[in-house]
Amino acid sequence: MIIVLLGPPGSGKGTQAKVLSEKKGWPQLSTGDMLRGAISQGTKLGLEAKTFMDKGELVPDSVVIGLIQERTSATDCQNGYILDGFPRTIAQAQALDELLLSQNKKISGCLYFKIDDQNLVTRLSGRRTCLDCGAMYHITAHLPQKEGVCDSCKGSQLVQRDDDQPEVIQNRLKVYHDQTSPLVDYYDQNSEMVTIDASLTLEEVKNAVWDKLGSW
Ligand code: AP5
Repeated sequence: MIIVLLGPPGSGKGTQAKVLSEKKGWPQLSTGDMLRGAISQGTKLGLEAKTFMDKGELVPDSVVIGLIQERTSATDCQNGYILDGFPRTIAQAQALDELLLSQNKKISGCLYFKIDDQNLVTRLSGRRTCLDCGAMYHITAHLPQKEGVCDSCKGSQLVQRDDDQPEVIQNRLKVYHDQTSPLVDYYDQNSEMVTIDASLTLEEVKNAVWDKLGSW
């Protein structure tokens, strides 16, 4: 299965992608994670991407399309994958369609995580991420079992992302509304799209995703 997770920053795409990936074995292809990986390795691509990410702007289409073309050709993607944070513009969606067409594949469905902006600010400003394994927590909605210690890898570096600062969050939301939200209509018209109420609890959203997947 090839599944697109679409939704604003903080809507829970990454959280649910990890759950799905663990349960189903499909790799989670997060362009945000790939770009952060390039930044931490200090590559040329990472340095270029950082100038956009620090401001909450989108990284140029050509860069992320290249990352996805390369990543989807890996052997672990042959039986499907979960796209988390890609596509984010109409040009990216069209590039993905062309790529899949050339491989005789198609998107199985799109899960649209719908939620209002106020909720997103609370989620993003309270998010903490494990520096060692990438597991995600929230200061009220999802605490680790032991304070300051990651449940998954027992690492003790639970940090706030650079782009989860208030002014950057506001710009990310604006960029979402201007450049990414047109994809809701795009997938509604061109693929099977299901809307998930992403304002529900983690468990409720997980169950809703699960229900929808069963029918694809
Ligand atoms: P990226 O890393 O993709 O960030 P994003 O889309 O802004 O999404 P987030 O990771 O912030 O949120 P999420 O929806 O995954 O929510 P999460 O599960 O973490 O992109 C970062 C940057 O990279 C972009 O700004 C851009 O510059 C660049 N980039 C990436 N892809 C690109 C592309 N394709 N094109 C161009 N540029 C690109 O949850 C958030 C918090 O809420 C967590 O703390 C979590 O614990 C909590 N939470 C989750 N679900 C619930 C729930 N149901 N109830 C309560 N709390 C919840």
